[in-house]
Amino acid sequence: MRAEPVPLTARRNGPLSGAARVPGDKSISIRALILGALAVGETRIAGLLEGDDVVNTARALAALGARLTRARERQWLVHGVGVGGFAEPANTLDFGNSGTGCRLALGAVAGCPITATFDGDASLRSRPMRRVLDPLERIGARTLASADGRLPLTLAGARDPMPIVFEPPVASAQLKSAALLAGLSAPGATVVIEAEPTRDHTEKMLRHFGADIRVEPANGRGRRITLTGQPELVPRPVAVPADPSSAAFPLVAAVIVPGSELILHGVMMNPLRTGLVTTLMEMGARIERLDERNEGGEAVADLRVRAGSLCGVDVPAARAPSMIDEYPVLAVAAAFAEGATVMRGLKELRVKESDRLAATAALLRGNGVAAEIDGDDLIVQGKGGAAGGGLVTTHMDHRIAMAAMVLGLASDKPVKIDDGSFIATSFPGFVELMRSLGAVLS
Ligand code: S3P
Repeated sequence: MRAEPVPLTARRNGPLSGAARVPGDKSISIRALILGALAVGETRIAGLLEGDDVVNTARALAALGARLTRARERQWLVHGVGVGGFAEPANTLDFGNSGTGCRLALGAVAGCPITATFDGDASLRSRPMRRVLDPLERIGARTLASADGRLPLTLAGARDPMPIVFEPPVASAQLKSAALLAGLSAPGATVVIEAEPTRDHTEKMLRHFGADIRVEPANGRGRRITLTGQPELVPRPVAVPADPSSAAFPLVAAVIVPGSELILHGVMMNPLRTGLVTTLMEMGARIERLDERNEGGEAVADLRVRAGSLCGVDVPAARAPSMIDEYPVLAVAAAFAEGATVMRGLKELRVKESDRLAATAALLRGNGVAAEIDGDDLIVQGKGGAAGGGLVTTHMDHRIAMAAMVLGLASDKPVKIDDGSFIATSFPGFVELMRSLGAVLS
């Protein structure tokens, strides 16, 4: 059982100033644990995100036979069991709120001859899993029990995994990654063809751990990924860069709170994750990339951001995969712009930790901002500010909670959320970090 809800209020104060480093990237942290668990020997991870989603994934991997140790803060050691080497867990694997942990682990388990039951909290139980099970069943796994393609579900991994060619029906790095992780156990080439490129951390990390994986352009904007199965994965050190999806919150706060100036250190700038920075700059935000460099195989930079005026823009659907988790906070920025911002092609937001399309519109409307949903598009009428004064329902969704708090830092009246406890799924220390920059959150 979770603890009691933790209401939280954000109110306007002076400018935000100073420097900070947000926690490690959630996508890379989860992948580092899973690949560490599938390698033979000991993987050292530095800068791991110690958020609830990652900790729940670590617990599940331990139940599958990997040994995970926290050497010190953010430094973890994973003793892996090798591809196909997971042991049958004694109990249900509980992924809490983590869609990524659950879906990637489904892929990894699908290639092992074991049976495991997957479960999560009420938010995760409402999210679609059928889309992941389809390719895994083609590889040879069997779904033994699942209510309506949702959790809780029991998966029997393949005894004789078959390589497949898989074209994900939606742009989803989780789907792509689940198929690739299952393909690790199959002989020969597993191929994933994506119509729109999504975050490529799984591909990069598989290569880093010694797998033979090729990525080629396909069908215009798309990619064809070919993985040779049954490699012996070799442990490699992983350094986790700061999460751009977490940096998004202080970044937008600094843009909309007048007089602010912040430096955010070591933010990952993988081009498949930078749609928000691109969009904010098109809106006129003053963001500079300082000291651009490569850390642990990923592009990173220190971001200097200053408050300034914004104009509304049209955000194309093709950009969605590179900023899929950033729309709630972009919508907040759009309220502070002059003119309409149209965010196109947001169908996938309906199946995130909450129906994020509806929750984002509700968060704005409840605080005096005109927002409408038109099909799969979100349109925000920016008036250079927001009245605030609302109580936002967060629906167990960390990003709705943080977006609402950013809104409250710049709106006329304070903004309250019903429950800030889910912020810890991706951004432990959010409140303290924002306070260190001058924000008033209580
Ligand atoms: C993630 C992929 C995205 C994103 C999620 C993390 C990942 O989900 O929303 O927070 O690490 O692969 P989808 O693949 O479902 O779009």
